[in-house]
Amino acid sequence: MDNQSKLMNQIVERSGTVLMSTYARIPVAFEKGQGCRLWDQEGRVYLDFLAGIAVTALGHSHPRVVETMKVQAEKLLHTSNLYHIENQIDLAELLVNHSFADKAFFCNSGTEANEGAIKLARRYSSERYGPEKTTILCMQNSFHGRTLGSLSATGQEKFQKGFGPLVPGFSFVPFNDLAAMDRNWNDSICAVLMEPIQGEGGIQVPDQAFLKEVKKRCQERKALLILDEVQTGLGRTGTLFCHEQFETHPDIMTLAKALGNGLPIGALLATDEVAAAFQPGTHAATFGGNPLVTAVAGTVLSLIL
Ligand SMILES: Cc1ncc(COP(=O)(O)O)c(C=O)c1O
Repeated sequence: MDNQSKLMNQIVERSGTVLMSTYARIPVAFEKGQGCRLWDQEGRVYLDFLAGIAVTALGHSHPRVVETMKVQAEKLLHTSNLYHIENQIDLAELLVNHSFADKAFFCNSGTEANEGAIKLARRYSSERYGPEKTTILCMQNSFHGRTLGSLSATGQEKFQKGFGPLVPGFSFVPFNDLAAMDRNWNDSICAVLMEPIQGEGGIQVPDQAFLKEVKKRCQERKALLILDEVQTGLGRTGTLFCHEQFETHPDIMTLAKALGNGLPIGALLATDEVAAAFQPGTHAATFGGNPLVTAVAGTVLSLIL
């Protein structure tokens, strides 16, 4: 066995000894990245088609991203949302100026953004229409994340197996099927949660009219439309947000993945009216939108724009 494969075997063995087996990892460890290329520990070069699962949209080591990170790291990493954070305000302004939304909330991942969306929709609805209207209508074959709320909203049993009891108050209909949606609608539904194009579920693109029709039903039936654009957002489908191509917009939208180009950040966006359901003490995240991550995300979003 040559030295290179010995080194990789050691890494695989150490990994198996101390890390939980949540991933069937490929026996490669990368050391550096530049643009769309990655180098492994043995100096082999790879073309990176995975991009960290829809994350490194600007490529690795983008000079503007690296510069922003260095400058901010030397100034301040973290304070708390008990204070104002100007980088966070800059990022929120950029997002609301380029979307349907009026307000933003920052967290650390896609699943956490979806947790926030579920909470916001339920709170908005319970304040307006009382405690009975709490069901979130979700799509079969969807994916919204691994924390318990987002997992309960995910329409794929393989991800849920063995983790019950799940959070109550989620029901499911087939994606892109308005007749099934109508058959399964009831007064307890406070929101529809869906990806505009299903990603993990196998790149399922709905009919052109589907999103608009869902939004129409939501408006008529006093429910909110939540779009999970964690995977489809930030230019990935050709427009800044995928829903723009379906000529409609949600009441709440979630983002993550490419927003930090590799730094962990999630965002929850909403209209003023809906966002008002969150008040001091109702929702929070210790690290959410800290000075470092929002400085980087501001640069990333400006470059994408
Ligand atoms: C549509 C969608 N929502 C949510 C998530 C969860 O994001 P995260 O892994 O950052 O929690 C993913 C991840 O693949 C996703 O594709």
